[in-house]
Amino acid sequence: MEEKLMETASAWKKARRVLVFTGAGMSAESGVPTFRGPGGIWNRFDVEKAAYLQSFLTDPRPFWELARELMLKAEARPHPGHYALARLEKKGYLQGVITQNIDGLHQKAGSREVYELHGSLDRLDCLDCQREYSWEGISGEVESGEVKCACGSKKVKPRIVFFGESLPREVMDRSMEIAGDCDLLLVVGSSLGVFPAASIPQLAWQRGAKMVLINSEKTYYDDMFNWVFRKSAGRVLPELEKIILGGEQEENN
Ligand code: APR
Ligand code: ZN
Repeated sequence: MEEKLMETASAWKKARRVLVFTGAGMSAESGVPTFRGPGGIWNRFDVEKAAYLQSFLTDPRPFWELARELMLKAEARPHPGHYALARLEKKGYLQGVITQNIDGLHQKAGSREVYELHGSLDRLDCLDCQREYSWEGISGEVESGEVKCACGSKKVKPRIVFFGESLPREVMDRSMEIAGDCDLLLVVGSSLGVFPAASIPQLAWQRGAKMVLINSEKTYYDDMFNWVFRKSAGRVLPELEKIILGGEQEENN
């Protein structure tokens, strides 16, 4: 692994514009369940009932059951991999993070340029009276499974992208723009199976960016990558940071 780390770190230091694209595997070491693979959420929840907009509007209870699982995200803390990305951004080695995750962990770790393709759990709106809620504000009700607005409506919807909904236009456009212009893109913790999000790394690859994959399991798109780490995000990212910034710290001494 040593040689691969050195090669990746050197490509990272030479690159002018670096992007990281993350999925649920990036949050796994913060105790947040992934969707697929061993113990994945979709092995335990019926995706049609819990994550489609139409089903949510008909009966939101299966989503709130899933949300209790996602509640881990509210207490979850960033792990060393999140902090490594935030420090690399601060030192100018990372342009931004494009994430499929809705847990806000990149921002909690200090990342500033974060593009949330699937929205985020931390704000909710009543679809009937437009009242706004924070996740903290309703977490007690999520526990009970009966989330209701002060107006009596049960249609309190988090600002996440349900299946059957389109992704936020401006976030998708901006993500495609920077992905098409970057010269190194790292994919961390994603099975790359959900579109249009997964088309973003493909665009970078088509435009000639160098590609790095840090993912515990094989994906359909492994061949797209110059370097593949079959290791955890929480381990590889801090090691890359150490080589990239460590050298700099030596230069400063
Ligand atoms: N480090 C690196 N990779 C990991 C780790 C880890 N610690 N733990 C798990 N992984 C890998 C798994 O092997 C898997 O390939 O992360 C990947 C997570 O894949 P998914 O669970 O499919 O998550 P993701 O790719 O983000 O799913 C995309 O699907 O259900 C929708 O909206 C949901 O945003 C989600 C989208
Ligand atoms: Zn209301």
